[in-house]
Amino acid sequence: MTLYNPEWEERFLRLALLERKAKAVSVTEELQRLVQPSVLAAMLDEFIYGTLHSAHHHTDSYAHDNGFDKIVLFQDSETKMKMRLHLWHPLAIPNAKRPRQNVHNHRWDFSSAVLVGYADNHSYRFATPDEEGEEYFHYRYYARGSKEHYDVESRGKTKLVSIGTERVTEGSIYSIEGEVLHRVDTPNDQFVATLVITHENVGWVTNDLLSERSLGSEQATLPSPAMTRQKIVEKIENLRYQMGI
Ligand SMILES: [Fe+2]
Repeated sequence: MTLYNPEWEERFLRLALLERKAKAVSVTEELQRLVQPSVLAAMLDEFIYGTLHSAHHHTDSYAHDNGFDKIVLFQDSETKMKMRLHLWHPLAIPNAKRPRQNVHNHRWDFSSAVLVGYADNHSYRFATPDEEGEEYFHYRYYARGSKEHYDVESRGKTKLVSIGTERVTEGSIYSIEGEVLHRVDTPNDQFVATLVITHENVGWVTNDLLSERSLGSEQATLPSPAMTRQKIVEKIENLRYQMGI
């Protein structure tokens, strides 16, 4: 169950109609409004109520392979824009390190507000044939959507070149365009939370995923079970506790 009422639909439709750059500006403004503690608390109340009382359990929230919990708060039926929470939990074992995320791009631009903690965004590009770079296994990635698995298709090996790192900290809002290859690092021992709005789909069916290890030499189907509604509520209550809202 996600947030559902005509006000949200209208709000997202208005955003979807904008051109790419203007959309990033307006979505950022929308996030600025949403992250005000009283607004965020009211939205999470509404979401928790819907999660607990809906007859239908939606399957779009799950523990993402890239090390965070993804909880979909709202999905617009018309534009497919989504609003979701990404939550990274501190590692339970002292001095343990998070596995490095896969590098990837997206089928949509997105804007993200850092609610708690900080993250380092690393950006990459494909190396040209005569260039040195870091070697990765290259896959085409089919969106998980509401399926409880996702499919990848091998494209062999490729090299990437790092083009920069940007640290985003609590209170900041940033936007990343869909085609930018990136991965995120978060601190091992801290809770990190972001509120993300994905813009309208740019129309690709698949996107790129670059892994340091092989996920399969041809095609692979990787399981991705949905989070139970109890877990969703528990994780949101923890976020509220961390934020004091
Ligand atoms: Fe990403």
